Amino acid sequence: MKIKTQINKIGRNSKKQKGFINPPIYKGSTIVFNNFKQYKKDLNIYEGLYGLNRTPLSDSFEEAVKKLYRCDAVVAVSSGLASVAVPLLALLSQNQHIIVTDSLYSPTRKFIENQLSKYGVEVDYYDPLDSENKIEKLIKKNTKIIYIESPGTGTFEIQDIPKITKIAKKHNIATIADNTWASFLFCNPFELGVDVVVEAVTKYINGHSDVLMGIVASTKKYSKVIRDTAKGYGICCGSDELYLSLRGLRTISIRMEKSQENAFLLAEHLQKNKLVSNVLHPGLSGNKNYKIWKRDFTGSSGLFAFELKKKYSDAKMEKFYKKLKIFELGYSWGGYESLITFPDLSERIIKDRYKGSIIRVHCGLADIKDLKEEMDKALRALES
Ligand SMILES: Cc1ncc(COP(=O)(O)O)c(C=O)c1O
Repeated sequence: MKIKTQINKIGRNSKKQKGFINPPIYKGSTIVFNNFKQYKKDLNIYEGLYGLNRTPLSDSFEEAVKKLYRCDAVVAVSSGLASVAVPLLALLSQNQHIIVTDSLYSPTRKFIENQLSKYGVEVDYYDPLDSENKIEKLIKKNTKIIYIESPGTGTFEIQDIPKITKIAKKHNIATIADNTWASFLFCNPFELGVDVVVEAVTKYINGHSDVLMGIVASTKKYSKVIRDTAKGYGICCGSDELYLSLRGLRTISIRMEKSQENAFLLAEHLQKNKLVSNVLHPGLSGNKNYKIWKRDFTGSSGLFAFELKKKYSDAKMEKFYKKLKIFELGYSWGGYESLITFPDLSERIIKDRYKGSIIRVHCGLADIKDLKEEMDKALRALES
């Protein structure tokens, strides 16, 4: 069965749901035991019959995502950031070392630098434009994880995941990849050798900007420690969130394909604008990482960025922003709406690679003609 057909069928069973198409919402903390014997058998806390550990709806959702990633296990957690934190906490011990891309989602960087540092965890950053050549030099005796985010946040560098995972395997290091941008539909990092995949369900799987949720998918080797860690920290998902995300999943292919199409058309349009120096979209044939993207991805989502020829003041950027009606200024992405933000690269180790102002764009499902016209108008405001 092709993936788009599977999306229709998985994680539901009408026969067990009194004929209804969608699984029902189970709300609750307590799930009563059938008898005393079952209670005694169930005393292992992580498998325990309790709302925190699993519900029929979390089982349905996790089973669905597991099939789509063709992996051994999936745990649903309460946000995309929780999906980042859980495997790092699960796989790392005190005083170990981690190598991560410098183009990291900023809260992930903060989690590593502010939280994991309390346990003596050290971090080194690799250049996302030269990942495969530099990573091996950063490996130390205590390196436990290489953390990939491809494409990188804000600047969209595609990393050579097969080469990175080959190096990691040679040194017995685990790899974690944040696959939120492509989702399972446009990239399967397990096929590229990754051990653990994290994804913010908040973005494309849910797709309607009304839920915070994440998943941690893994190979068998890491599945138990990841589930135990999530449960050990009391991390679970609300039943409404699970329901909405399972519902969102059913339409992901049409939403992502439309967002992809809009983003390609807007990116190509921006390439012709005289104020723009560089469109940071890995699916454009002139992009530095185009070849790797073409090899490892089957599509590109609605999120990309562009660099202006010069750095503009906040006052100018406000003029740009004020011309926007369809694009709204806000964090997150992956929903039906179109958004912009102005990425701040000041945390990065590699400085001065980008000289002009950068604008990140999420193309939602609006008419591309309107998106292009509005962006042109806003860019013209920079000249006034
Ligand atoms: C690449 C990436 N990973 C993880 C997250 C975290 O997701 P959440 O907002 O659900 O915590 C985000 C959020 O913007 C993201 O962009």
